Amino acid sequence: MIEFQSVTKTYPGGSVAVSEFSLTVPSHRTVVLVGSSGSGKTTLLRMVNRMVDPTEGRVLIDGDDVLDRDAVRLRRSIGYVLQQGGLLPHRTIADNIATVPVLTGASRREARAASLELMERVGLDRSLARRYPAQLSGGQQQRVGVARALAGDPNILLMDEPFGAVDPIVRRELQDELLRLQSELGKTIVFVTHDVDEAFRLGDEVVVLRERGEIAQHGTPAGILAEPAADVGRG
Ligand SMILES: Nc1ncnc2c1ncn2[C@@H]1O[C@H](COP(=O)(O)OP(=O)(O)O)[C@@H](O)[C@H]1O
Ligand SMILES: [Mg+2]
Repeated sequence: MIEFQSVTKTYPGGSVAVSEFSLTVPSHRTVVLVGSSGSGKTTLLRMVNRMVDPTEGRVLIDGDDVLDRDAVRLRRSIGYVLQQGGLLPHRTIADNIATVPVLTGASRREARAASLELMERVGLDRSLARRYPAQLSGGQQQRVGVARALAGDPNILLMDEPFGAVDPIVRRELQDELLRLQSELGKTIVFVTHDVDEAFRLGDEVVVLRERGEIAQHGTPAGILAEPAADVGRG
């Protein structure tokens, strides 16, 4: 379970990215934060793995304040998928996936075997293991990003517009794949998007954000569709 308790983030220079945001993300569920660019989505995600620390308020994981955790270890224990894979260009696909296990002490051999298994999990052919990121399509690269995020077997996955840069057909495939994976793995997922349809497809719960992380609406997709707030448009 992840709890945001009245978190505020003011960046140096005074820009208030998020103001007094509170939300509980239940374990083993996918919660989607949807809002337009600048609404504070990335800032909120990064508060979970301490890439950003709140100016005020607290973020708790299973009851413990993340500020009490070592930032580097915390970050390695949480899967993080970015819009543009963030893959290391000069490392093979298998090595990219193995990044965290190798950092945390797995042998090359173990890490490599785990990479190949993860590739299958996310629907990538094992024959791609020795290729480099630039030799893969955008959709394949995003699958690698998901495999890499899963490599340390984290309880929590943070996904920041991970399917935003691929064409609509591939995007749909990646969404289906994530739904399938989640039904098998039951991770606690915070997924960020500006696409309302994607939010409704993927979220057990959807949180619609206005500026500064102000919550316009929060509920299940069915609940929100039944009673949409005035300014929550679809598509
Ligand atoms: N490192 C930063 N320094 C200053 N302002 C920032 C920084 N990161 C984000 N912001 C500002 O905070 C607000 C929210 O940004 P962000 O969390 O990236 O939103 P989103 O991911 O929804 O686009 C924006 O106004 C943005 O300009
Ligand atoms: Mg963002």
